[in-house]
Amino acid sequence: MSQHHETVAPLVEWTQSLSVGIQEIDDQHRVLVDLLNQINEAIHVDHGSDVTNAILKDLVDYTKIHFAVEESLMRVLGYPGYEEHKDRHQELIHEVETLQDKLLTGQKGLSFELLPFLKMWLMRHIMSEDMSYAPFFLEKGVIASSPHLSPGRRLWQFMTSSGRHR
Ligand SMILES: [Fe+2]
Repeated sequence: MSQHHETVAPLVEWTQSLSVGIQEIDDQHRVLVDLLNQINEAIHVDHGSDVTNAILKDLVDYTKIHFAVEESLMRVLGYPGYEEHKDRHQELIHEVETLQDKLLTGQKGLSFELLPFLKMWLMRHIMSEDMSYAPFFLEKGVIASSPHLSPGRRLWQFMTSSGRHR
């Protein structure tokens, strides 16, 4: 199968600043980052709405699985911010499902405009929400993946990485 392939710069580059310091969660976040990059590539090389909507569906499905994993960890470990974090998850699911509906019903077209929305959507989840439970999880003995950086330091690294360096 020969397929025309252009190199598209990733929308989100995985860097250490995105690590919450917990292996399993980081691995799942990498999958979300990868799906965002696939949507980015599909839009850039104009793969069409079928392909892009299929990847978006994978993103929604995987996000639900990922949130369920996080929520069960929070429950098991007795995280005090559980209810609040769960509400944030519902909001994020709602936002991306609303977008998905608009695309499927033709109220909105697939375009480059979606990309900053999706990037912010993911960043809000990882940077502002998950960074807040990570220290608690680690304190409870969840396996760490990397030397711990303060959330402020991670945010700074993320904000200052342009996504160009590898
Ligand atoms: Fe997460």
